Amino acid sequence: MTPPREETWALRGPLLTPEADGGVRWDRDGALVCAGGAIVYAGHFRGMKGKHKGPVRDVRPWVIAPGFIDTHTHFPQTRIIGQATGPLLAWLRDSVFPEEARFARTPYARTVADEFIDRMLTQGTTCAAIFSSSSERATHALFEKLADRGMRAVAGLTLMNQHCPKALQVKRRDAIQACERLIKRWHDYDRQRLRFGITPRFALSCSKGLLEDAGRLANEATLLVQTHIGETHEEGNKTLEAHGYAHDYLDVYERAGLVHERTILAHAIHLSASEWARTAKAGATIAHCPDSNFFLGSGHMKLNRVQKRGIPVALGSDVAAGRAFSMRRAMASAYDNSLCVGSPAQTRQLYRLATIDGARALHCDEHTGSLERGKDADFILLDVGSPGPSLDDVLSQVLFDNESAAVREVYVRGSRLALTTS
Ligand code: GUN
Ligand code: ZN
Repeated sequence: MTPPREETWALRGPLLTPEADGGVRWDRDGALVCAGGAIVYAGHFRGMKGKHKGPVRDVRPWVIAPGFIDTHTHFPQTRIIGQATGPLLAWLRDSVFPEEARFARTPYARTVADEFIDRMLTQGTTCAAIFSSSSERATHALFEKLADRGMRAVAGLTLMNQHCPKALQVKRRDAIQACERLIKRWHDYDRQRLRFGITPRFALSCSKGLLEDAGRLANEATLLVQTHIGETHEEGNKTLEAHGYAHDYLDVYERAGLVHERTILAHAIHLSASEWARTAKAGATIAHCPDSNFFLGSGHMKLNRVQKRGIPVALGSDVAAGRAFSMRRAMASAYDNSLCVGSPAQTRQLYRLATIDGARALHCDEHTGSLERGKDADFILLDVGSPGPSLDDVLSQVLFDNESAAVREVYVRGSRLALTTS
């Protein structure tokens, strides 16, 4: 990773960015000025005067936009995209668990970590919340590779000590000690660009004791928590069998202190009214993973209804149940899903889910998620051909014209990254 350029440098091109007021800004003649890895100006080209004196690179008609944020993805599933062995529990047994067991071999983990990060960056994702495998070494390998590329991420050792193959199980005490070592090495690394997140795979794969230890650690060290909930009925029923003391699925996590405003709950399709009310009260975020929900036939999350309750929602690719690393594909799937439930989402709402709302979910919106002065210069150049005149036109191109629109360049902290496709 090259250090950020200290001097100011500037680009001229159309700007597309979420705004503080809840909207999305589309400036057909915009400019972005960066220095020392941060944005010093993002706005209309004419307003740039005085901010930058040197040459300006003209990138028109490419669109300057913030890097996308993926709030739910699985690094050790990179090589099993498209394995159609669903629904969820059968897919975990037949496709996921055998592959995740391969991450006991560190060289394999290193190779796949490179692929995983390359594939995210190629699609313009510069920040993500990531599940590793249950292997401590594989998780170190992931962090090392994230650090090499300068990505912003929250990643965690996937906790599992029951209801999965022995090869993947890590005992409660060993797993917590591994988390502590990973926290020491990686949490808040590089001015918090990398953070460790407490990552119980889901309630079924964790004993009550492991969940309690995980909750304690998350609260002592003020860590983000990421897990799955309410993805399928079968999973929900098995969870209540395994945790017979709990009133419902969310209660399993609540009792362990795992549900609060630093929690990201993936899927949340099949929750009761009481579970929704408690999620809202706790301030937890839902990672909506529509492409995965389609591929595993898990059901439809009611995006508008959940957002109307005031529950924060962001977007996840959920690779490899999601079949693409692209957050543009995730936005398109979220749109399709919203039609399926009879409550169409707006394109600007979806664009915010994949940018600023993701940054809020990861508690890093001070640093990323939009093009604003003072934020890190984490941005992309999108080639949508000839951008349509209106905001609606350009958002339609970005979200839905996947074949003719492409991510041309990706920058983290103002440094351009080499992409495997470029
Ligand atoms: N539930 C528990 N583990 C997983 C996983 O790896 N993917 C998905 N989609 N759901 C899960
Ligand atoms: Zn997942």
